Amino acid sequence: NTYCVIMAGGVGSRFWPLSKSSMPKQFLDILGTGRTFIQMTFDRFKRICPVENFIVVTNFDYKDLVIQQLPEISEKQILLEPLRRNTAPCIAYASNRVKSMNPNATIVVAPSDHLILNEEEFVFQLKTGISFAAEHNALLTLGIPPNRPETGFGYIQIANKIENEESVHLYEVKTFTEKPNLDMAKIFVDSGEFYWNSGIFIWSVNSISKAFEKHLPDMYERFFTKGEKMYGTPDEIYFINKAYSECQNTSIDYAVMENADNVFVLCADFGWSDVGTWGALYAQQPKDEKNNVISGDSVFTYASENSIIHVPDGKIAVLQGLDGYIVVESDDILLVCKKDDEQQIRLIVNDIRLEK
Ligand code: GDD
Ligand code: MG
Repeated sequence: NTYCVIMAGGVGSRFWPLSKSSMPKQFLDILGTGRTFIQMTFDRFKRICPVENFIVVTNFDYKDLVIQQLPEISEKQILLEPLRRNTAPCIAYASNRVKSMNPNATIVVAPSDHLILNEEEFVFQLKTGISFAAEHNALLTLGIPPNRPETGFGYIQIANKIENEESVHLYEVKTFTEKPNLDMAKIFVDSGEFYWNSGIFIWSVNSISKAFEKHLPDMYERFFTKGEKMYGTPDEIYFINKAYSECQNTSIDYAVMENADNVFVLCADFGWSDVGTWGALYAQQPKDEKNNVISGDSVFTYASENSIIHVPDGKIAVLQGLDGYIVVESDDILLVCKKDDEQQIRLIVNDIRLEK
């Protein structure tokens, strides 16, 4: 009864110039493991969900990338979006598709661009979460103990503990705050009452339908009520085009998780990282004796430290006197940016519109 919805339509603009709208982060092997982020995601969830129960939601532009990178899934398991409308419509579309196949399903919704180091622990927690979500009218998310006041995440304040088993930390949620400002994030982390939202959600078809009906009635009407008879017919594409062009651009976090009163969190530490930025990748990767992270087989550094350098093999790169920098070359683009200012990259990319 378990289905897995992989959300793979984002752009990952903070990883520019490696990640760009023609080739976003989820389709890249940034870590050099031989598998891209979406492939690693698929490998992980295959342990709890049969291959035929996967749904990948992505933009029309990435259809071929998904087919290439996930040859095990069939084309009808790939849902294509005509426009970027963030994660709420993506989840509405996929949930109703799952509903039409199995109204008693439990759905795990997964981002496609995260790193998880301790898979055994992850799978254990997922199984626990799935059995809880299958039996309750609950919107369950996996929570991660925070280690810094990161402003790019959702913050979850815990209330009563539900499960008394020692290895299971399942709580009712008091508040959910998506992307707080830095001052708030600091208060949250210092209080010890908050967890990061991993963005991995578990719920039954029934719970998520009810949540859309209550918090996004317009989207509910479009995707669930009107959509019901349309899925799988030749009209689906017209129907979806219309639904996307008319629906709100919002994330599940803002629209549902912040407002719902049946949110639960399963807190666990399984070596999660969303490797959202060059700095996050730097923190995660092994360093040389000068604390540099280097990718590229012809990089020469002199008096340079605390930097991340990412150039193609064969490209000769010489760095002198750099401390705390990001240096990335990809195709015909070169980026040199202070590591502390990396949040600027998203804005710069939007500004110069060079992302293609
Ligand atoms: N299909 C589809 N369509 N997928 C999308 C879209 C879309 O329009 N927009 C984003 N996605 C995918 C991304 O590719 C990613 O895998 C996932 O959905 C989450 O989107 P992000 O854009 O990366 O979200 P975020 O990182 O800003 O915030 C979310 O994740 C954080 C943890 O990494 C939130 O859930 C936060 O609360 C959470 O802390
Ligand atoms: Mg993200």
